[in-house]
Amino acid sequence: MESGGYRGLLVVLLLAGVHRGNGCGPDTCHPAPEGFLNVHLIPHTHNDVGWLKNVDQYYYGALNNIQHAGVQYILDSVVQQLLADPRRRFIYVESAFFWRWWQEQKECMQKDVIQLVQEGRLEFINGGWTMNDEAATHYSAIIDQMTLGLQFLQTVFGECGRPSVAWHIDPFGHSREQALLFAQMGFDGLFLGRLDYQDKINRMNTKNMEMIWRGSDDLAAPTADLFTGVLPNGYNPPDHFCWDQLCSDAPIMDNPQLEDYNVDAIIDSFLDVVRKQSSKYRSTHIVMTMGSDFQYENAIPWFKNMDKLIQVVNAQQVNGSKVNVIYSTPSCYLTALNRANLSWPVKTDDFFPYADGPHMFWTGYFTSRAGFKRYERLSNNFLQVCNQLEALTGAAATHGPYGTGSSLTLRRAMGVAQHHDAVTGTAKQHVNDDYTLRLYKGWETCQVVISNALSSLTGTKESFTFCNLLNISVCPTTEVAKSFSVFLYNPLGCAVTWNVRLPVNGFVYTVKGPSGEDVTSEVIPVSKFTKDVRRDKGTAERELIFQAQIPPLGFSKFTVQKVSTQERFFPKSKTTTNPAKIENKYYRVEFHPETGLISGIHNLQKGISLPMTQSFYWYNASVGNDDSIQTSGAYIFRPNQSTPLPITQNVRSYLVENSLVQEVYQNFSSWCSQVVRLYSDRPYVELEWTVGPIPVRDNLGKEVISRFDSKLQTDGDFYTDANGRQVLRRRRDFRETWSLVQTEPVAGNYYPVNSRIYIKDKDIQFTVLTDRSQGGSSITDGLLELMVHRRLLDDDFRGVGEPLLEPGQYGEGLVVRGRHMLLLDTPQDSADLHRILGLQEYMSPQIILSSGDGVPYSSKQGPTNQFSALRTPLPNNVHLLTFALHEPKKLLLRLEHPFQSHESCNYSQPVTVNLQELFAGLSLSEVEEMTLSANLPKSKMNRMQWRAEGASDLPRGERSLVLDPTNITLNSMEIRTFLATVQYRKHSTWGS
Ligand SMILES: *[C@@H]1O[C@H](CO)[C@@H](O)[C@H](O)[C@H]1NC(C)=O
Ligand SMILES: *[C@@H]1O[C@H](CO)[C@@H](O)[C@H](O)[C@H]1NC(C)=O
Ligand SMILES: [Zn+2]
Repeated sequence: MESGGYRGLLVVLLLAGVHRGNGCGPDTCHPAPEGFLNVHLIPHTHNDVGWLKNVDQYYYGALNNIQHAGVQYILDSVVQQLLADPRRRFIYVESAFFWRWWQEQKECMQKDVIQLVQEGRLEFINGGWTMNDEAATHYSAIIDQMTLGLQFLQTVFGECGRPSVAWHIDPFGHSREQALLFAQMGFDGLFLGRLDYQDKINRMNTKNMEMIWRGSDDLAAPTADLFTGVLPNGYNPPDHFCWDQLCSDAPIMDNPQLEDYNVDAIIDSFLDVVRKQSSKYRSTHIVMTMGSDFQYENAIPWFKNMDKLIQVVNAQQVNGSKVNVIYSTPSCYLTALNRANLSWPVKTDDFFPYADGPHMFWTGYFTSRAGFKRYERLSNNFLQVCNQLEALTGAAATHGPYGTGSSLTLRRAMGVAQHHDAVTGTAKQHVNDDYTLRLYKGWETCQVVISNALSSLTGTKESFTFCNLLNISVCPTTEVAKSFSVFLYNPLGCAVTWNVRLPVNGFVYTVKGPSGEDVTSEVIPVSKFTKDVRRDKGTAERELIFQAQIPPLGFSKFTVQKVSTQERFFPKSKTTTNPAKIENKYYRVEFHPETGLISGIHNLQKGISLPMTQSFYWYNASVGNDDSIQTSGAYIFRPNQSTPLPITQNVRSYLVENSLVQEVYQNFSSWCSQVVRLYSDRPYVELEWTVGPIPVRDNLGKEVISRFDSKLQTDGDFYTDANGRQVLRRRRDFRETWSLVQTEPVAGNYYPVNSRIYIKDKDIQFTVLTDRSQGGSSITDGLLELMVHRRLLDDDFRGVGEPLLEPGQYGEGLVVRGRHMLLLDTPQDSADLHRILGLQEYMSPQIILSSGDGVPYSSKQGPTNQFSALRTPLPNNVHLLTFALHEPKKLLLRLEHPFQSHESCNYSQPVTVNLQELFAGLSLSEVEEMTLSANLPKSKMNRMQWRAEGASDLPRGERSLVLDPTNITLNSMEIRTFLATVQYRKHSTWGS
């Protein structure tokens, strides 16, 4: 199944070698003479990697009754039309589709296409596996999906296949972290199509449609700078100039004998568009996107009419016209802008939230399909584990006692899941089901890889099982076994302590660690909340809890033995109703005696107290009103009033406690519950919420929030992360670059929260870490809210054509369970912990179970119970972001400094790593530093430079110093990417 990928590429590599030359690049652009207003026509198609149809259906053109779209025919047709006339140009964007098409082509067609690419006639733009969303995505997954697509293009087309321009024409808002990532991938510029309607009007009126976007406050300019252009008409052609077979605009009828001869009218109307458009832009070049969703299935009408348009408009030059129309590409247009030698405004905030009209805020999709958003995040976690174990053991992972497979299946599925209709939750239900299935198949393949790798590392063949339903206490292995083993793999570069919870039916267990030592364990009843969710899926009455220490980039093995099935030996989990407080050595949480709700949190070590109430509320979804017909839907959040309704005023609650954990169970309603949890060794408060099926029989769509009400003096400010990384300050009813007219006091203040949100005054910061992306805000001072789940009865008129009903497995509506981790600290000290916990959350230890004792697998050594691939743990300010195979035999390594420059006294400073001394069982040679997307040596990166408004000079270029792998310095928020040749030493030299 998997080998097809590299086999396909191999043929191609030979071809590319033959043709590799220097044909592509700016020299292949059509001349754009000075003294003219040059109109750059960019023929393009926008191919969603799933939306109304799934990826396969879009590729083949199935289900054309839903939407007429067939990507294979688009590529077939465009290539023929490009070959027919060397003046024509086309760009292609989505590698997930191109990869499929490429593999189906005969060698002569592949040669033709390589030639088109070499000559700059077909140009790859953006080039990621998909055009990823920017609001619900995590930076780790963005980098991976870009790397996957760009690696494919690199392998097939060499340097001419390396896109130099990023093209995010459809994502519904744009994040600052995305700009930073694109800059570090070596892109010269970015074009986008969607921004707030007020922002756009303002930019058009002030000629600020094109700018320098500074992606970070932490990295010195111009490293984080990305030239960014807003396209004039989204990504569509100007009105009346759509010549696709899906459109109905008049073709150019150029025979003067015709009654309907329309050339003069066409010229007039085109020049009118040109005049209006050029008045909004600074340079003597303007751009027109000639294409749209799934256009060019028949490329003839487009190209034939553009040929004529160019001919008839340029013919006017003999009579003094100063308009010159050319076929162009984003990189040719960008080159022209760069040569124009102008100054550009600098932007430092982001493009969230996006509204396309009054009351029309695209802030619902920050939360839409909350279950899928968690599965996507968890799949990234699993992929990193899979990548690491594959890289640590090489061929032993891909071919072994459990079968054959590679990380590629999950990499591709994750690539698809980053698409701007996938992780966003804005695809039709049947398409979302397909995204989920793809991820699941990726998990299955990675389970083979992980089992093979663990066998190789432990030296035993075990009957490994993976329990994917632990969040609802289901695991057939542990529910029945008298004894079993638990392997815990830690993908982080530093050791972690983890609270393991496994569904069981016994009353007393002994747990032994890797060296045979006793490990404290407790058994706690499975709650009714959990039993209600899992229904007949599992039988466990209890959960076994123990604390596990796991070394960095390695595993520990624990063995569990059932001691007694007798209830009389069931030890001491104590139950109390209506508890007043719970407390560990870090935190005390207090509960209100009447309502049972949280009433205060205390950080005991810092002596900080914050009285606050936490509860669940719901917004009643708008069905449209006199102000606007806009409804709340998959994209758009619009409550019908600004005050959310409480689910209940008071909860029934009880406390269960033992030596490892204290848990307060709060029942808000038949469809909303929460566990407030303190583990004895964890320095945060965990809230595990369970919401759904959201009832809609009352015909009211509902958007459920968890809200924290405090008296913190927050002065309109709150803080949210971008893609799990840098934090941006948000200000209620305010935008940094224009004077906002607010039409939605709640929805217009929602922002994406990918991993953290906080509020603070001068002494206290209250931080909530999330386990997935969701929307969040602070609607009044001192208040913080996160939208956890939504269920809606109306479509919101943005194309998906379905209400967000999510029926779920039982047809009653989906139940979603998740966690919020609460931190209370001083503003100066907060980042220390929220950064480290943020990494632990998205790269959690993976639990692999084995039902019995393994049989020896490789006879050379005894079984290994503990293993670390690192010689020494990495410090807290170095994160091993990527450890994966890149082409066969190459190791892809990314080291990241996860702290912003002023947020931590302890960790914000630069840190140095010796790459050669890092790994115990493998040696690296030919280490080369690459751009972030690993498709260009850093030393060859030579990005265009842009003069900022008010600056007299161009910035100094980004210099890359000679690499010393023994001395890699990471500055605050820097990510450094390396490719190396890896040699595996004998496993006996692994530390244990
Ligand atoms: C240029 O102008 C002359 C005089 O008006 C006209 O006859 C001729 O057709 C024009 N040429 C083009 C290409 O329109
Ligand atoms: C490591 O590199 C830095 C410059 O990046 C230099 O100042 C330092 O002396 C180097 N250390 C060693 C041990 O080579
Ligand atoms: Zn799209």
